[in-house]
Amino acid sequence: MYVLAHLSDPHLGPMPRAHPFELAGKRAIGFINWHRGRKKIHRADVLLGLVSDLREQNPDHIAVTGDLVNIALPGEFHTSREFLEALGTPQAVSVVPGNHDLYVRRVRDAAMAHWGEFMAGDGGEGFPYLRRRGPLALIGVSSAVPTAPFMATGMVGTHQLLALRDLLDRLRGEDLFRVIMIHHPPMTKKGDRFKRLIDRIAFRELIAEHGAELVLHGHDHVHSIAFIEGPGGPVPVAGVPSASSLGGHGDPAAYNLYRIERRDNVWRCEAVTRGLRRDRPDIAELARRMIA
Ligand SMILES: [Fe+2]
Repeated sequence: MYVLAHLSDPHLGPMPRAHPFELAGKRAIGFINWHRGRKKIHRADVLLGLVSDLREQNPDHIAVTGDLVNIALPGEFHTSREFLEALGTPQAVSVVPGNHDLYVRRVRDAAMAHWGEFMAGDGGEGFPYLRRRGPLALIGVSSAVPTAPFMATGMVGTHQLLALRDLLDRLRGEDLFRVIMIHHPPMTKKGDRFKRLIDRIAFRELIAEHGAELVLHGHDHVHSIAFIEGPGGPVPVAGVPSASSLGGHGDPAAYNLYRIERRDNVWRCEAVTRGLRRDRPDIAELARRMIA
């Protein structure tokens, strides 16, 4: 039995001090949004509680599907590196970037510079990457692209789609449980024009034709499960809430554990969700107790 944990969108605080020149344009809006509201939702105490619970579960591997930072300031990347090191070694933790990690064009290389070891494939850097871990083929896809203010869209792009197609085909013959990690959900939802994956249809068609065993994503900050009809049966597409969230517009913080094994020549995958519950009277207090 191999256990894979999935957490996403920690949106790590606190927001570091910033020089005025660093806050030009889109970052200024994000900076104000953080101090006006987001910092009350994305809480360090909640994240600490969740991570300490996750570590107790002792998973074999942890997938982190992006949005570690908020407006991609240099200080945020230092904090995020420490966060990843606290989760585990680069061998045991796999990361893909989210839209907040590439918030503005000029930080295009910052995520790779700080988390490169957590985003390196077995054969080197570059997306999509492939990491073989136990019975798993972990495939990291980047959907992070710089966007205009108020936009949080993502795109995989032709280069990655073609490489992903070849990877999926090659791995199918190796009897590995193929897990694709991507920040943006490949499923369409009404009203998400400003935050959707632009080439989601091409991505879904690719999975429908070439298959995968599991697709993990973040971005929406809610629990979600959907299926793409693949060549060997339905492919689950699962999202988790933000790992630091008290609730608000999304679901309260949670992570998923996938217990994966091959039995009688068939893959079996059991999913367990652990996290804060919205119906608890004071989930902040619960988070504090989780830490204690
Ligand atoms: Fe996102």
